[in-house]
Amino acid sequence: MRMTLRFLPDLDGITSACELLDQGNLVAFPTETVYGLGADAANPRAIAANYAAKGRPAFNPLIAHVADLAMAERQGVFNAAARTLADTFWPGPLTLVVPATPDTEVCDLARAGLASVGLRCPSHPLALALISAFGRPICGPSANRSGHVSPTRAEHVLGDLTGRIAAVIDAGPCSVGIESTIVGCFDAGTYLLRPGVITRDEIEAAIGGKLAEKPADESGKPMSPGQLTAHYAPATPVRLSAVSVAPDEVLLAFGPDALPGQAEARQVFNLSEAGDLTEAAARLYEGLRALDQIGGKSIAVAAIPPQGLGEAIMDRLQRAAAGSPIFSE
Ligand code: TXA
Ligand code: MG
Repeated sequence: MRMTLRFLPDLDGITSACELLDQGNLVAFPTETVYGLGADAANPRAIAANYAAKGRPAFNPLIAHVADLAMAERQGVFNAAARTLADTFWPGPLTLVVPATPDTEVCDLARAGLASVGLRCPSHPLALALISAFGRPICGPSANRSGHVSPTRAEHVLGDLTGRIAAVIDAGPCSVGIESTIVGCFDAGTYLLRPGVITRDEIEAAIGGKLAEKPADESGKPMSPGQLTAHYAPATPVRLSAVSVAPDEVLLAFGPDALPGQAEARQVFNLSEAGDLTEAAARLYEGLRALDQIGGKSIAVAAIPPQGLGEAIMDRLQRAAAGSPIFSE
């Protein structure tokens, strides 16, 4: 892979970063909490590359960074509590998880198929300038390899991700150093999903009431953030690791080789003719939706190699197949 560029936190750096992001590249950028691994929220290929660069074994939902409330409200539905919290703490280290709008620019893969969307308006001037210049949301998980410590300096980002990302904008150390507080705002309640610098007390003071307890599942176990709203699961049953296809099935194919029966299948969607896992991840939700629309006895899914992004793709497909609430941290 090519070198990772290091940009100055000036207009030239922002312009170059926007060009790279617009072409689907990854650019790490500073926020007041930690450096984020930036990707165009609307581009599933860029989001797949983001998961791949981090080495994430599952598609966790990603936060989308927005420049202001207007951009946020194009992505998510803000109830009274969400609006109060945004008015009080934005820009700042608070992420709001709210129901996604039907025409949200944050793609399915970035939301991990959830019906909700995580939005954050950072207070770091460089981050705000970058998102404004880009003109649409930028996804940004912490810019570290999965399982490593979150980076608070450009050097940390480069230490972890050199050669795996296009560039980093170096604006020196982050002031806060730990990730944002995450609050879920739904009509069913307002939940603290991840503690952070903005405390429970500060949030309760702002909304003028107590935060609801985390909802429990049937077994009484507290649910993790991503379980609050359903992930996309096709109505058509999903059959994994298919070695052949029946004529009353649709096929989610992978790679150049046809399966026995493929020519007679009702419909075929190939995640990647070339057998490229990044392309497959980017096309996963599109493929499931397209095949589900055609329908059939089941969606047969060809075997996908379990290495790299293949593990995350299989994680997602297994959850789709189980039809069960999904995502755990
Ligand atoms: O401070 C921060 O929040 C940093 C900086 C870079 O902004 N970003 C960050 O993003 O920590 P990330 O992607 O590593 O953490 C996002 C977490 C996910 O692990 C997930 O738990 C939660 O936010 N999240 C995002 N979207 C969600 C959704 N729709 N539903 C539930 N949880 C969501
Ligand atoms: Mg992280």
